Amino acid sequence: MRTPLCDEFGIEYPIFAFTPSEHVAAAVSRAGGLGVLGCVRFNDTDELEQTLSWLDDNTDGKPYGVDIVMPMKIPTEGKSVDLKAMIPQDHIDFVDRTLQKLGVPPLPEGEGREGVLGWLHSVARSHLDVALNHRPVLIANALGSPPVDVIEKCHEHGLKVAALAGAAKHALSHVQNGVDIIVAQGYEAGGHTGEIASMVLQPDIVDAVGPDVPVLGAGGIGSGRQIAASLALGSQGVWTGSIWLGTEEYQNLQSNSGWTEAFTRATSSDTVRTRIYTGKPARLLKTKWTEAWAEEGAPQPLPMPLQNLLVSDAHNRINASGDPDVISMPIGQIVGRMNEVRPVADVVASLVAEFEEAVGRLNKVV
Ligand SMILES: Cc1cc2nc3c(=O)[nH]c(=O)nc-3n(C[C@H](O)[C@H](O)[C@H](O)COP(=O)(O)O)c2cc1C
Repeated sequence: MRTPLCDEFGIEYPIFAFTPSEHVAAAVSRAGGLGVLGCVRFNDTDELEQTLSWLDDNTDGKPYGVDIVMPMKIPTEGKSVDLKAMIPQDHIDFVDRTLQKLGVPPLPEGEGREGVLGWLHSVARSHLDVALNHRPVLIANALGSPPVDVIEKCHEHGLKVAALAGAAKHALSHVQNGVDIIVAQGYEAGGHTGEIASMVLQPDIVDAVGPDVPVLGAGGIGSGRQIAASLALGSQGVWTGSIWLGTEEYQNLQSNSGWTEAFTRATSSDTVRTRIYTGKPARLLKTKWTEAWAEEGAPQPLPMPLQNLLVSDAHNRINASGDPDVISMPIGQIVGRMNEVRPVADVVASLVAEFEEAVGRLNKVV
């Protein structure tokens, strides 16, 4: 399973793994893929600094990447704007009422946060500054192309820049801005998604950006067969997210049994694309929490970053409570095939073995 990206990044397999967990990222890199640490959960740059130092020390010298969340257009924000004051009281009341109705207890005294500030542009920039003191080989951006000065800064430090795209026209504009690698993120993916399925999106993007721009297929990759399909569609590798939530290493971040039950029993029909997580359409596990927002009389989600500020405390409470019927989690349709918790190295080994088996089968057809 070698493509030119393997040589470019010094990796064995073109399997890129987005994950909020440094333990998963390190294990993927050690297993021959490229672990990419999601930074949005870090409100505190000291904590990110320590986490990246940990990654530097625990990847056996193998490369890793960092993912930030930064819109191309710099929004008005900063000390002069009180974002929390912009959240309507009706929305706050709805969240409180819903948590009560669903029986979600408050967090223990002293726990909880002031919202996930990684969604703010200024905080995402501070994540990048911290990352540049470490040794990532790739900066990926969840919200498409980052601003051009950010791309230039990464290039000055010798880093490649990847950006998610849900449509060919977005991929083209990312390339015009200087982005090096396009992540073609199909409809079935966990997290932010567009409306075009991977089967159609990947060749659309591959053809639009041309042979000089590598594309990673994303959305619904949970087996080597799906990697073979992505490469057949013209991608040079895959970008994965959901499958790593079902690994032993992820339990360092989220260890309650409710979470394990929620994803192992879910079928591929048990996700929903909704704006309630961040204000932009993102695919989540369908639970009583997502359904409450779809009921008649529920408020419309707020724009980014207000929606996340509104719900992040609720998400902390929900996930700490461990009720599998209520969990709030981005996840893709591949959840239907995530039926057990395995070590990262086993998942990588299966992806590679299944890929080889699929390609062998296809070779016999030729
Ligand atoms: C729990 C979770 C959190 C995510 N958070 C981010 C994020 O912060 N930044 C980002 O670029 N993508 C994020 N994504 C999307 C992934 O990077 C990836 O594009 C997606 O998971 C691929 O589709 P798949 O879930 O079908 O593998 C997230 C995905 C999941 C499942």
